[in-house]
Amino acid sequence: MLDYARGIREGFGRFMMEYQFAVDEVLTKVTILREEFRHLHRYNPIEHVSSRIKTPDSILEKVVRRQVSPTLPKIREHITDIAGIRITCSFIADTYRMLDALTSQHDIRVIEVKDYIANPKPNGYKSLHAIIEVPVFLSTGAVPVIVEVQIRTVAQDFWASLEHKIFYKYDGEVPAHIATDLADAATAAEQLDRRMEQLHAEVHGPTPADDTRPTIPQLDNALLLRLWDLAQTTGATSQSRP
Ligand code: GTP
Ligand code: MG
Repeated sequence: MLDYARGIREGFGRFMMEYQFAVDEVLTKVTILREEFRHLHRYNPIEHVSSRIKTPDSILEKVVRRQVSPTLPKIREHITDIAGIRITCSFIADTYRMLDALTSQHDIRVIEVKDYIANPKPNGYKSLHAIIEVPVFLSTGAVPVIVEVQIRTVAQDFWASLEHKIFYKYDGEVPAHIATDLADAATAAEQLDRRMEQLHAEVHGPTPADDTRPTIPQLDNALLLRLWDLAQTTGATSQSRP
């Protein structure tokens, strides 16, 4: 019994650690995309990024509810939201842009994509969901780890967090008139998204430029001149361009 408990505990610690590393990997990817985008287009497509690892309690609850065999390999295979990342974007176009940029990376295996923006849930829920697998490089080699990524706009996120609270308050049995109001609110959120996107396009044009804080050090003129002098004295200017 003691040996069993020790074995499970050690295995489980490692299991959870892999999910934390996978979240770190994906967060780095998102940060790189965000900064590169800001650098290239002087525009930040992401408002907010959050992440969470499911608690052991909540994993166990889902294992029981989904009747998954209680072994680590089966849990790894069937519970696909142990690691979760949520990206909140400024506009709908940005959500698709982020999804494409992320899922087209060579080291990411896309297991499933659900487009609840094009096909909202009956209650009005809108988001892009992607179940992806990323390699985590440990001392023993690479381990593929599944991460759930949710991408939505600020308005969609506002709606989803409110709906989530209401859903739990009524234990899943939301009264009809509240469900109707929620569906109306989802439509209002969509209208807000479209209007803000139009406004933004009107002010900035199709390739917007609203965030000009440079995050990468830039070469100033004095430094450029010194580089030019150096290049001339070392003959670098007669060689090929950098
Ligand atoms: P889960 O068993 O809840 O993980 O759902 P699923 O396997 O059917 O997958 P789905 O992609 O539909 O939902 C995954 C996650 O998206 C959920 O855990 C929620 O975080 C979020 N989500 C899905 N539907 C809703 C919804 O109607 N309202 C809100 N607020 N969130 C939702
Ligand atoms: Mg879930």
